[in-house]
Amino acid sequence: YQLPALVNEPFTSYGPGSPERAQLGNAVEELKKKSAVNIYPNVDGQDVHAGDQAQQTSPFDHKHVLTNYHLAGADLVQRAISSALEAKKSWSKSSLHDRAAIFYRAASLLQNEYRNEMMAATMLGQGKNPYQADIDCVAESIDFLKIFPTLAEQLYKAQPPFNSPGVWNRSECRPIDGFVYAISPFNFTALAVNLVLAPIIVGNVVIWKPSPGAILSSHLFNRIMIEAGLPAGVLQFLPGDAELVTDAVFANRNLGALHFTGSTHVFRSLWKKVGDKIDFWVSYPRLIGETSGKNFHLVHKTAKVRNAALKTIRAAFEYQGQKCSACSRVYVSKSVADEFIEILDVETGKLTMGDKLTDFCGPVINSAAFERVKKAIESAKNDSKTEILAGGECDDSVGYYIRPTILKTSDPNSEFLKSEIFGPVITIYVYEDSTWGPELFQLIDETSPFALSGAVFANDRTVVIQAAEELRFSAGNFYINDQCTGAMPGHQPFGGSRASGTNDKAGSITLLQRFVSPRTIKENF
Ligand code: SER
Repeated sequence: YQLPALVNEPFTSYGPGSPERAQLGNAVEELKKKSAVNIYPNVDGQDVHAGDQAQQTSPFDHKHVLTNYHLAGADLVQRAISSALEAKKSWSKSSLHDRAAIFYRAASLLQNEYRNEMMAATMLGQGKNPYQADIDCVAESIDFLKIFPTLAEQLYKAQPPFNSPGVWNRSECRPIDGFVYAISPFNFTALAVNLVLAPIIVGNVVIWKPSPGAILSSHLFNRIMIEAGLPAGVLQFLPGDAELVTDAVFANRNLGALHFTGSTHVFRSLWKKVGDKIDFWVSYPRLIGETSGKNFHLVHKTAKVRNAALKTIRAAFEYQGQKCSACSRVYVSKSVADEFIEILDVETGKLTMGDKLTDFCGPVINSAAFERVKKAIESAKNDSKTEILAGGECDDSVGYYIRPTILKTSDPNSEFLKSEIFGPVITIYVYEDSTWGPELFQLIDETSPFALSGAVFANDRTVVIQAAEELRFSAGNFYINDQCTGAMPGHQPFGGSRASGTNDKAGSITLLQRFVSPRTIKENF
C-alpha cells in the first residue's frame, strides 16, 4: 500500500464571530462549570482506581480544580510494565499499515470529535489562548500522528546497499528490547504526543508518566488512542508522583529507552540513575531527552528592525515564554538598539493578559513557576547593571500572572543572559558594532551551556553566512530572519544539543532511529 501524502493540519483562526470561536467558547464554559474531572491511571485500556489522589488546578484561576487524578503506585507500575511487554509480542509484529491506520483514525478523532474538548483542556489546564492551544494540541499533534507512519516507512526502506552474487542482505527494523518510559512536560500537549508515538509507530510499548500540569489533555489523548484502536497494553497511562513512578519503572530490568522532555536538571538526574545501575539492565537503555534552553536572537545593524522586534516579542512572550524554544536573550547592534527597544517596548505594552479568548498572554503554569520568575525579576531590580524596561509586575491573586518583562543589561556575562528563567522575561544586551565577528559569536556561544534554538536577523548575506557558520553549534534549530520558536513537524525538526538535549529531533526520522534495533540478515542462495 501507499501511505497518504502528507499535508500539515491547517491552523484555525477562531476569529471573532466565527462558528469555531463560538463552539470553542462553549467548550471552555462547559469545562469551567464542571466539577473536577476524575482521572485514573489507565492500564491495558482500563481505568484503575488507584488510591492516593492529587489535583490539577487551572493556572488562570488556582481555585478552579480541573481534575482529581489518581496516582499510580509501584505495584501498578510493575503490572503495567508486565502487561505492556505481553502486548508487545503482537504489537511488534503488526504491520506498519495496521499501526498507521490507528494513527490516522486518532488524527481524525482529534480533528473532529475531540477538537474542542482537547482545546478547552489544553487552554484551561496549561494556560493557553486559543491560538497557542490550536497550534499545539490540534495542529502539531495531528501532524505527528500523520507524519510518523511516513517516517517509519522511510526508515524501513533503508536497506544495505550491497549484495554479493547469490546473497540477499537485509535489515530488519525491530523495535528495541524491553519497553520505553516516556515522561512528558506540561508545556506542549503535542510533545506528549511525540514522546509516546515515536516509539509506538515502530512497534514499541510505552509506559507514560504525564506531567501534573497537563493531566487533562494527556488523559484525553490516551482516550483518543484507545478509541482509535490502539491495542490494550501498548500505551500505559500512569499519572503519579514523578520519583515514585520513576523508581518503580527503573526497578524493572527491561527498560529499553527513556524518552524525556523537561528540564536539564531532571534529565541529568535520570541519566545518573540509569548509569548507576548499568549492570542491572538487560540492554543498554537509550536515553533520549529534549531539555532546557537559553535561546537567542541576534540582531545585526542591517536587520529589518521592526520585523526583528515583532518576531522577538512573539518568540519571547507567546505562551508566556514557556516554550522550550522561547527567546530569552537578545543581542542587538548599538546602531539599531534604540529603534529596536522602542518598538519592543511600545508593542509589548499593547499585549493583553487574562483568560479571555482574545488575550495574548495567560498565566505561567503553577505557583512554583510564578515564584521562580518573580524571584528572577526581583533580583533584576536589585542588580545595578540591569534595568527593567517593561513589565515586572506579578500578581497571583487569581491566576499566576506575570507581565511580559523586558530587561536590559550592560553586563555581557549577566546571569540573565545565562540561566533559563522559563517565563515571560527577556534580557537585552546591546553590543558595539565593532565587536561583530569572533568576539560576539564567542560571547553568544559561551555565555550559556544550552544550544536549543537561535536566530539571526540581518539583510547582509555575508553577515548571515558568517553568523550561521560561527554559531553552528550554538543552536539545534537556527533561524534566519525569523523567530526562534514555532518549529513545524516535517518542516523544521526540533531539538538541540549540549545541555539542551540529545538532539534527536521531535517528529523526525532520526528520532525513530533511536527506537529501532536493526537486525541484519544475510541469506545465501
Ligand atoms: N516545537 C516548539 C517550537 O519550536 C517548541 O517545543 O516552538
